[in-house]
Amino acid sequence: MDAKQAAAHKAVEYIKDGMVVGLGTGSTAYWAIQYLAERVKQGLRVTTVATSAETEKIARECGIVVEEIDSVGSIDIDIDGADEIDAGMNLVKGGGGALLREKIVAAASREFIVIAGGNKRVDTLGKFPLPVEVIPFGWKHTAKQLAALGCTPSLRKKDGQNFITDSGNYIIDCHFGSIPEPATLQQQINNIAGVVENGLFVKMATRVVLGYDDGTTKEFF
Ligand code: A5P
Repeated sequence: MDAKQAAAHKAVEYIKDGMVVGLGTGSTAYWAIQYLAERVKQGLRVTTVATSAETEKIARECGIVVEEIDSVGSIDIDIDGADEIDAGMNLVKGGGGALLREKIVAAASREFIVIAGGNKRVDTLGKFPLPVEVIPFGWKHTAKQLAALGCTPSLRKKDGQNFITDSGNYIIDCHFGSIPEPATLQQQINNIAGVVENGLFVKMATRVVLGYDDGTTKEFF
């Protein structure tokens, strides 16, 4: 069991029979979906909602029923990965481009468990470029306003084309280097016209499970 698997396996233990579960996106959340599928095969009953089309597909392929988010009244537990995690459990997310739906699901969840390899833990956020989802219309102007906040913005590409999110938007990766005040920055970014959402998740996580390659985990809450 590697670091990501260890974190995912531990977090899935928090899922109880009858819960509504948010399924995260990315290579660590992938393992949580696999471990949840094993428990479902053993008889665990859950309702799930997905944070991306990719996750929905993976979950369905391994036999998990996925519902539309607005068909559930509330979400008991959301398990998702992160690109960076600071000591205050603030996060940078969106490396996989799913930050908008990930934030909506996390915000609707009673418990939001973040799973990651121990290498994602940082003293200060910002070394990982902050993903910002923007409306395609006028994106170069939106990027200029992002740059005015102190970053170098770059439009995300995939296979030579502009990367398109599940909601039909672009991602601008913002190279800040260091984000000492994530709460302030997230507000400043979301005040820019054209910005849909940013990948800073401030004071949203209720528990962090870090995994290590020897199969052990450490938890913060
Ligand atoms: C997806 O958009 C992201 O927020 C992921 O949760 C994040 O990038 C972590 O991904 P990995 O688990 O693949 O590192």
